[in-house]
Formats: sequence, C-alpha cells, structure tokens
Amino acid sequence: MKYNVGNQLGMGVVGAGAIGINAALKHLSQADVQDKVHLAAVCDLVQGRADAAAAAYGVDKGYTGYEALLADKNVDAVTICTPIGMHFEQGMMALDAGKHIHFNKTMTTTKAEADILIAKAESKGLKIVASPGQMYWAVNQRIRKLLLEGRLGRPVWSICGTGSVGSYHINEPYRHGNDILTNTNPAWYFKKPGGGPQYDVTVYCLHAMTGILGPVRKVSAMSGRVVPSFDFRGEQIANEMDDSTTLMLEFDENLFGVVYAAPVGAVADGFSPYVYGLSGKVEGLVFNGEKLGRPGDHMPHHFGEHGKMGENHVYEDIMQLVDWIAEDGKKPYCNVEHARHVIDIIESGYRAAETGQTQSIATGFDLLGLEEINGMLEQYGG
Ligand SMILES: NC(=O)c1ccc[n+]([C@@H]2O[C@H](COP(=O)([O-])OP(=O)(O)OC[C@H]3O[C@@H](n4cnc5c(N)ncnc54)[C@H](O)[C@@H]3O)[C@@H](O)[C@H]2O)c1
Repeated sequence: MKYNVGNQLGMGVVGAGAIGINAALKHLSQADVQDKVHLAAVCDLVQGRADAAAAAYGVDKGYTGYEALLADKNVDAVTICTPIGMHFEQGMMALDAGKHIHFNKTMTTTKAEADILIAKAESKGLKIVASPGQMYWAVNQRIRKLLLEGRLGRPVWSICGTGSVGSYHINEPYRHGNDILTNTNPAWYFKKPGGGPQYDVTVYCLHAMTGILGPVRKVSAMSGRVVPSFDFRGEQIANEMDDSTTLMLEFDENLFGVVYAAPVGAVADGFSPYVYGLSGKVEGLVFNGEKLGRPGDHMPHHFGEHGKMGENHVYEDIMQLVDWIAEDGKKPYCNVEHARHVIDIIESGYRAAETGQTQSIATGFDLLGLEEINGMLEQYGG
C-alpha cells in the first residue's frame, strides 16, 4: 500500500507562512495536481492561521498542533515549511509517525543531526527529499556538462554568493498584508539556531556549486555580524546571527571556490557559480559569449500555471518526493546525502571562522553523470 487512504498521496503542510502558502498550498491546490496529491492537512501554531489557510486552499483539516497533523491518518507525507531551527525535531517526529518528508530547506543545522535523521528514515523505509534541488535547473546542468566534456579545460576556481539577504525577508511583499495569512513575522531569520544567510541562501549556492564541481574536501571561513537590527512594520528585530560570511572551499585537485553572503553587494548573479577553467569560463550564466539559459528551459514539473507561479522550484522538489513515493523509482537529485554535505560545509565553515582552523570535510554524495544530464536536457531543456 503506497498511501494510507485512497489513491492520491495525502500531504500535510507544516507551517502556513510565506513558503507554506506560496510554494506548497498555492501549487498543490492547482487542478492538475489532484490526480497525484490531495491536501489532507495544514498546521500552524499561530491560532487561526491553519484554519484560514485550509479554507483558502481547500485543505481537509487545519490544526494548531503539529502532533494533531501527524496523528491524522490521511497524511502520508509532510512538507516542512517552518523555521529551519525546528526542522530536525519535526523531521524526527514525522518519521516516528511513519510519514515521508520534504524539507524546505535546510534539513538540519548540523551534520550529526543529518546522520541521525538519515539513519532513522532508512530504518523505517521512509523517503526524504531536501530542498533546494539546484541541479534540476537546466543552466546548472549545462555548466556541469561543459565541465564533463572538458570544454572549460581543467577547472581552477569558482565563485558565487548573495547580497541583501536580511532585508529580502523583511521586505517580502507577502508579509505586509493585514490578515493572518499575509502578516507573518520573519524574526526567526535573525535568530539562533537556523537563522542567518548561511542556512537560508548560501545553501542554494552550495548545492549548485558542489552539484557542478563535486564534493568539498576542506573549508576555511571568515564570519561576523554587521547589521544590528531590522525594522519590520515598526518592530525592531535584533539580529543575533552572522550576516556576513565568506567561505573558502577546496575541492579535489587544487580546485578552489569562494562562496560569500553579505548584507550588501553581489559579484555573481543568482545562485549559480562562475567557473574558470584553463581554457574556458562561465561568467553570469554565459559560456565564452554563449547564454546558458534558453527559452523553454523548465524543471520537470513546471508545466501550465506552475511555470508562471512563484516559488516553483520548491514545488518541483515536493513533486520529486510525490513521484518517488508513487513510482518507487530512482532517488531524486535533491537527496539527503547532498543536503548533508552542504550542511557539513556550513557547520564546518562556522567552526573554521570561530577557531581560525581550516576544517576537513568527509561527507559526499552522488554526482550527475553526462548521460543523466543529456537525458534531462533533452526532455526539459529549451
Ligand atoms: N520566504 C522565502 O522566501 C523562502 C523561500 C524558499 C524557502 N524558504 C524556507 O521555507 C521555510 C519557512 O520559511 P518562511 O519564509 O515560510 O517562514 P515564515 O516565518 O514566513 O513561516 C513559518 C510559519 O511556520 C509557523 N510555525 C512556527 N513554528 C511552528 C510549529 N512548531 N508548528 C507549526 N507551525 C509553526 C509560523 O507560525 C509561520 O506561520 C524555511 O526553511 C525557509 O528557509 C523560504
């Protein structure tokens, strides 16, 4: 039996904040998904938010407590859309309750927690998918293809990163409405554990850079706090997390990488890396003058309205879990081993900054081969 009840996967949405609404509920309530997924439940600890979300998006049940959602037999899987610091504990509870999990993002804040979670899922025969699935973007596949085909020559160094992260969440238009679904306070983004740009956005850069270049072997870092507080609708939110962190990464064979996150400025655009090889370069998604993004590029589930809607990369990862459960086929590219490796880099980076000592990284993950990339580009590339 794939599902507890009926022929569609019963999804439980945990947290009805910005991403619970915009990535999970808006996409999963579209007509074209109903043959695969049914919105069984939503929960949120803010009184009234889950009920409002259930009414707005046609979800069967709204709960205030997470335990009640987990006890609902119509829920086969959960998409965890709560603050990152809660993910490990909520993930363990979901596994105990026999639910598959999609983590919207980052799966845990430490490698040790990731190990425990992965072992538990394996022992229970449950599936976990962890966002962000950066290697489902055709541009990232094309950069890796260039590398595998030797068109960049020997890769030498790479850079990617983000600026203005804190202010992004303060200013998300979705948080400035006047009802319970559109006034969600982003304070947790600035608090321990799980706040700060490393777990929130560097995670995208690292999934892309390592998905393209391979696993990191050593990390060194500098990290500190710059902006003391943020104003959210008149409330001062004290920033308790480092908001300026630069990671120096060592891959195999003297290939080096830099990943920065800062409150201002950006050298690379977006989350995809610049890559410099001895005989070619990728800069700003352009390879030797040729644009790597093409009209018609789409992730596997970005058809119809989903292609136009916001946060559809998260929807993609959710659907990877849905299909994996339905077909019991190949493990998706947004998998727990890749997520653990990225968490290991982030955690080791903080340790390196604190101690002044370069840290070794032992975790790894399976990389995309040329055949897989060609297959995906044929189907989903423009
Ligand atoms: N906002 C974005 O742009 C964005 C984009 C991609 C991914 N994400 C990721 O999505 C996740 C959630 O971020 P967000 O921006 O939606 O946060 P948010 O603060 O907007 O929403 C979180 C929601 O979770 C609820 N919540 C908190 N604790 C809970 C609990 N114990 N049980 C049930 N509900 C609980 C809160 O009340 C809130 O409604 C994070 O992992 C974040 O990194 C956010």
